[in-house]
Amino acid sequence: MSDKPTYYVTTPIYYVNDAPHIGHAYTTLACDVLARFKRLDGFDVRFLTGTDEHGQKVEKSAQAAGKDPQTFTDEVSQNFRDLADFMNFSHDDFIRTTEDRHIKACQAIWKKLEEAGDIYLDNYGGWYAVRDEAFYGEDELTKTPDGKRIAPSGAEVEWVEEPSYFFKLSEWGDRLLAHYDANPDFILPESRRNEVTSFVKGGLNDLSISRTTFNWGVPVPGDDAHIMYVWLDALTNYITAVGYPETESGNYAKYWPADLHMVGKDILRFHAVYWPAFLMAAGLEPPKRIFAHGWWTNEGQKISKSLGNVIDPIELSNKYGLDQVRYFLLREVPFGNDGDFSHTAMVNRMNGELANDFGNLAQRVLSMTAKNCDGKVPNPGELSDDDNALLGQAQGLLAAVREHMDRQAFNHALETIWIVIRAANAYVDHQAPWKLRKEDPARMETVLYVLAETIRHLAILCQPVMPGTMAKMLDQLGVPADARGFEALGEAGALKPGAELPKPEGVFPRFVEEDAGA
Ligand code: MSP
Repeated sequence: MSDKPTYYVTTPIYYVNDAPHIGHAYTTLACDVLARFKRLDGFDVRFLTGTDEHGQKVEKSAQAAGKDPQTFTDEVSQNFRDLADFMNFSHDDFIRTTEDRHIKACQAIWKKLEEAGDIYLDNYGGWYAVRDEAFYGEDELTKTPDGKRIAPSGAEVEWVEEPSYFFKLSEWGDRLLAHYDANPDFILPESRRNEVTSFVKGGLNDLSISRTTFNWGVPVPGDDAHIMYVWLDALTNYITAVGYPETESGNYAKYWPADLHMVGKDILRFHAVYWPAFLMAAGLEPPKRIFAHGWWTNEGQKISKSLGNVIDPIELSNKYGLDQVRYFLLREVPFGNDGDFSHTAMVNRMNGELANDFGNLAQRVLSMTAKNCDGKVPNPGELSDDDNALLGQAQGLLAAVREHMDRQAFNHALETIWIVIRAANAYVDHQAPWKLRKEDPARMETVLYVLAETIRHLAILCQPVMPGTMAKMLDQLGVPADARGFEALGEAGALKPGAELPKPEGVFPRFVEEDAGA
């Protein structure tokens, strides 16, 4: 067995009622970058994504499409897999809640909750929003002029009255608060943690966890008239995928508790309140962290189907480039805050930071090397203070970037890398290797070597965010595929003077406005 430390990261599982859009791609992208980073950093990573296929919302969408729910979910789930492939996501498992392994896990956790005395049968009478698959108290709702009641999320609610099993959530408030207290990083960012804490302090009601008025769900063990509430079903996916109910061996023993559940801010309550309560009640450990990210708007407007401004991640990537979009989404906003997508902001980052800062640096250095060093890794002489300063900055990056990544501060990680990119550009201007070509060719080789080594560091560290373009850049530096992990940083994987280099090619094209419609 490998003795590598493990890292288990999950995305929410996506409702199969809709075509995938930028919001879905964003959540999974953040996880993909963490998974790739941790793999390069020597971890045994498990990265899970998938689709949430039960419940009233999916059943209604299937009906509207004139299909039976299974056929419908098979089709829509495939769209999410296709998006994941297109986006170059590196998940290890794709779970679907209609799979047998999952139904088995849901029924097993239900029985544990029942045995623990945390479930009782009663009647539910209250408000339900199908869009959110959530119950709301009267006091949380607002009324529209035409008498409709609206949840804080903007979803319309309907009155539901039916026999239902309940989970004794009201008894878990103190234990949840104690858990948040003992684990200050359990919910990030901090502002979200405060929101959750005050919600729990306000007192928790027991939670209805079964439905009887439709049947697209997991049957409650021992009572076929009920199906499990879709959120209990959905949350369980995180343990299904590591082999629950087998907890003593295999992947559960290896990977649980998860290191991180990445979620959008809209679904934090389910993950930070209900889920740890279910787990604790079933005698299982809660995950280590839940990070709630913000929402994207499009040119300042809320993204919605009715406004017709839904952003398709595939169209976006076809227009600007996949890695450019991956970079933009993680660089544009402090992770955790809401962000606005705009064409102008996208082009500014793509042309400014990728094409000008990073692209030019690599292109200048590689083409000078190709021309003046016979297409081989240059031969360095003695290093000056300036050379050592730049190399030292590059070598110091991993520790700083790792710290930001460990707090999901993608934007800070990238800013930190760009400080060195800018320092390298300043160094090129200052050392002027094109002048050295005639005056002092040996010094020119040293300068180009220092730069190539710096670019090697930058490209290795940028791989999680831009895997495709960085692979090309590392190819052009002649870095072998097995020397691209973080263990190769520092001097361990240093470029070998005299090694042959392939012909350089730019990897970050500029976006030119006239090309837009072409
Ligand atoms: N099925 C549930 C999750 C169950 S997890 C046990 C669900 N699915 S969802 O498809 O509606 O949403 C999944 C994710 O997409 C959420 O994290 C949500 O925040 C994210 N986004 C949806 N629209 C978004 C934006 N406009 N911007 C950013 N993320 C958004 O909820």
